[in-house]
Amino acid sequence: MAVGVFDSGLGGLTVLAALQRRLPDQAFVYFGDNAHTPYGVRDADDIFALTCAGTSRLFDEGCDLVILACNTASAAALKRMQETWVPEGKRVLGVFVPLIEALTERQWGDNSPPREVAVKHVALFATPATVSSRAFQRELAFRAIGVDVEAQPCGGLVDAIEAGDMILAEALVQSHVDALRRRMPMPEAAVLGCTHYPLMEDAFRAALGPDVAVFSQPDLVAASLQDYLERRPEMRGTGQVSRYLTTGDARAVSSRATQFLRRGIAFEPA
Ligand code: DGL
Repeated sequence: MAVGVFDSGLGGLTVLAALQRRLPDQAFVYFGDNAHTPYGVRDADDIFALTCAGTSRLFDEGCDLVILACNTASAAALKRMQETWVPEGKRVLGVFVPLIEALTERQWGDNSPPREVAVKHVALFATPATVSSRAFQRELAFRAIGVDVEAQPCGGLVDAIEAGDMILAEALVQSHVDALRRRMPMPEAAVLGCTHYPLMEDAFRAALGPDVAVFSQPDLVAASLQDYLERRPEMRGTGQVSRYLTTGDARAVSSRATQFLRRGIAFEPA
């Protein structure tokens, strides 16, 4: 009964924490590719190869379902994985759709034609690779019409968070919000389109001000996975125990993860 959770590094822990709160009896195996983070500055082939390698490792742990808790991998690699790589009997899901369904006020799996929605001006904060893929805008266009999206590539932010340099991370949040506002002064909603960014959610909210609705993925993804597993219980997998795997330095990653989640987490070498 283990579900795999993949990220380029520590960001997917924000999703994992929400999954564990909502599904306390479910085992999860987390894979952080900390040796190769950040993905956001890599090209699509590189992101595809790294994401397939990490996902394979999670299949080896008895996970039949893997959540790509990484927008960059979801944007740059997921479609190609689903079309050319995922073995029969396994599933790989991304983190975009639950977010976009929430933004466009849709029920899960509502595939009716795109329609007008309440929000008209949306700020997207994401990694350079996610922004240049335009995957967010593509998924949004399936569901909504007339929404203006202004995307801000947040260079440097994942590196600062992975390094635990929260002072630099806060300064970068402020400067990326300022840069976005020069192009879109009055967004109604802001999307934190990288799973590292919920760790900086307070800084984003402070920089954006009280009039901007902030959409963050962890709880939305957790609610959607719960619904999915109720419909597809066979995808809970054969693995029995929760584990935390990293391609990076397990001690350093464990200490940073413990700091971020405020509870002891012990990573093992992948
Ligand atoms: N957490 C990943 C995401 O959601 C970060 C990508 C990176 O490593 O740059 O996009």
